[in-house]
Amino acid sequence: MNSLQHVAIIMDGNGRWGIKRKKSRNFGHKAGLKTVEKIIKISIKNKIKYLTLFAFSTENWKRPKNEIKFLFKLLDTFINKKIVEFKKNNIRLKIIGDINNFNHKLKKKLTDSEKITLKNKKLQVNLALNYGSKYELVRAFKLLNKKKFKVNIKNIEKNLYSSGIPDPEILIRTGNTHRLSNFLLWQLAYTEIFFEKKLWPDFNEKDYSQILNKYKKTKRNFGNI
Ligand code: IPE
Ligand code: IPE
Ligand code: MG
Repeated sequence: MNSLQHVAIIMDGNGRWGIKRKKSRNFGHKAGLKTVEKIIKISIKNKIKYLTLFAFSTENWKRPKNEIKFLFKLLDTFINKKIVEFKKNNIRLKIIGDINNFNHKLKKKLTDSEKITLKNKKLQVNLALNYGSKYELVRAFKLLNKKKFKVNIKNIEKNLYSSGIPDPEILIRTGNTHRLSNFLLWQLAYTEIFFEKKLWPDFNEKDYSQILNKYKKTKRNFGNI
């Protein structure tokens, strides 16, 4: 059976879920947040150590202002609500992505939350915010250049946001769309990828367990036979 430490998820399909219910896209985002809470709990149950969630991409700034505003409000609410719980339940929060240009209050809230939960060990939730894999790689190369370090695999990995985190064994993308959308291009080099038809708000414990079980039985070759 394959071991499992790290699951990464492209949580896609919120907007369509809202529209399908004759409500707004934002209604779908709100519902999607419930799934996030569920998946965190189930990940702990399954002894997963790292859960990386794609919440906002460097490309998502193209969306209508009202949707962006709503997503950031949701993020704020999520952090307010969850940070006490994370602290209590031994969950670490880490942000991956460039939050430097976020409004000052939110940025502080995020970095404070990272600090408060830094020593927590049960599960690490990596929240990808204003995250883009191409930018992450360019940033790593720039850091290497500045430090005058050699360009090699080890040094590149050490300068990614994901430094020190094992590569995901599993990537799940919900929402019936088969692409990576600039997510973890380096880290996913040998990841098992599961495309899920369901929209993110509909994704449930059974769907998640099925993927975990299928992964455990997958023959992973890493180039070997
Ligand atoms: C959630 O799904 C992803 C986020 C950017 C938060 P979408 O908002 O992309 O939903 P669809 O794909 O348009 O249905
Ligand atoms: C990827 O979903 C980004 C997040 C889940 C945060 P998108 O819905 O933005 O991806 P594309 O634009 O359809 O590829
Ligand atoms: Mg989408």
